[in-house]
Amino acid sequence: MKSLVIAIDGPASSGKSTTAKLIAEKLGLMYLDTGAMYRAIALKIYQSGTELTDKASLTKLLNSTTVTQKNQNGEVHFLLDGIDVTEAIRTPEISLWVGPVSEHALVREYLVNWQREIGKAGGIVADGRDIGTVVFPSADLKVYLIADSHIRAVRRQKELAARGIVQKVEEVEEAIVKRDHRDSNREHSPLRMASDAIEIDTTHLTVGDQVERVLALVKKLQTQESK
Ligand code: DC
Repeated sequence: MKSLVIAIDGPASSGKSTTAKLIAEKLGLMYLDTGAMYRAIALKIYQSGTELTDKASLTKLLNSTTVTQKNQNGEVHFLLDGIDVTEAIRTPEISLWVGPVSEHALVREYLVNWQREIGKAGGIVADGRDIGTVVFPSADLKVYLIADSHIRAVRRQKELAARGIVQKVEEVEEAIVKRDHRDSNREHSPLRMASDAIEIDTTHLTVGDQVERVLALVKKLQTQESK
């Protein structure tokens, strides 16, 4: 179990982070939210006014940045250069900004290397867009979560409201659909389901159902391996 690598990919707000975090907790594995890494880098680029076309400045910024995760009272917190940015990386502005940032070859190369380094000993559940296709192509289990865009917008709207950010569901849905389009059509590691991934449609599933389905897949995998 300790060396298990589980990749959870899918479009925006399909339930990846919630599922990945709970699976990691239940199986005693490390949880890695790669979307948060892209968001934190986007926040730093945004705050520093670095132009994405300025390769030298971008390289300097990447080489002097650390993004770490820590568990605090059962919640995952993200630190950018030691500062807690858990809230700051989840704003609608950063959701817009992260698109062009995550398309950038330099940013992707830097973060993919870093993610592989974190996961090299195994024992990890990572969620993102390219985990099963690029970051950990030989993951033991690859899950691809999908859900109807309206349902995803309703879930995202609730999450935002809980943090005091009010947005109409139509606006949230439009932003989600645009982001999916951008993520799926970019040049470098676009959002794709790996050929050996298992798709789960979470439209009509509760979080508990999602977690149960993935746990059942892990169990099946272990049964096959012990034969
Ligand atoms: O999962 P999220 O919404 O926090 O991800 C934020 C953005 O980062 C998303 O629009 C696409 C990008 N991303 C990526 O390109 N590759 C990943 N492995 C994770 C996220």
